[in-house]
Amino acid sequence: MKRNKTVLDIQKMKADREKITVLTCYDYATARIMDGCGIDMMLVGDSVGVVCAGYDNTLPVTMEEMIYHTRAVMRSEPKALVVSDMPFLSYQIDLATARLNAGRLIKEGGAAAVKLEGGLNAVSTIEAIVAMDIPVMGHIGLTPQSLHRMGGYRVQGRKEEQAEKLLADARAVEGAGAFAVVLEGIPMQLAERITHELTIPTIGIGAGPSCDGQVLVIHDILGLCEKYSPKFVKQYVDLKPIMAEAINAYIAEVKGGAFPTEGHSFR
Ligand code: KIV
Repeated sequence: MKRNKTVLDIQKMKADREKITVLTCYDYATARIMDGCGIDMMLVGDSVGVVCAGYDNTLPVTMEEMIYHTRAVMRSEPKALVVSDMPFLSYQIDLATARLNAGRLIKEGGAAAVKLEGGLNAVSTIEAIVAMDIPVMGHIGLTPQSLHRMGGYRVQGRKEEQAEKLLADARAVEGAGAFAVVLEGIPMQLAERITHELTIPTIGIGAGPSCDGQVLVIHDILGLCEKYSPKFVKQYVDLKPIMAEAINAYIAEVKGGAFPTEGHSFR
């Protein structure tokens, strides 16, 4: 029987030059399908707030929501490494709060690692959580929880000065003990430079092909998100019309009396 993937397996993949596959996942049924396909890592992202709960951005997402979705994914008993996102305000206030909330995602959610946004400004937080033996994945570049500072979801690091700052962020996240780092919405040349410089894996989203792995939001690749489709998304299937066809057929059959039949009924 295949054993569960650990952070060490993910780090070895960089050394072996094997690309790391990551998708977001928020529920039991999807986790079972995704794990059956052999995905390396599942991220219970705070994007759940946008794609599942219909919020405008990730800021309203709570610890309770993250624990609920992490538990649902973990109930699928996945082989993939499951990383749970720390939501806004769960780690920015002070180190004690950050440690408690990281611990809750592991203890109550069942995840094997947590992710948090930030570079140089997050060093002491990453160090504090890693010191509790909880693996941390960093997240730099376009960090959605910094939406208001960035003035929208904009590509980061295009100017030389910004690029140097992002390089410093990446080094700081690695130095603080993170096992991997997400690079979001940055020029591909900068992502390549960071990937070559770091010893920990880089997981790109809108950061070009040189990253050690890639992550996308599951609703985006399945065509289930209508709100906002950034350039970096690749939609592999459009499930909307397929779902609508099934739902329309059900409505028509119930209205017309064709469903349920005797075969769907008890005596
Ligand atoms: O919440 C999320 O889905 C994420 C990924 C897009 C990296 O943080």
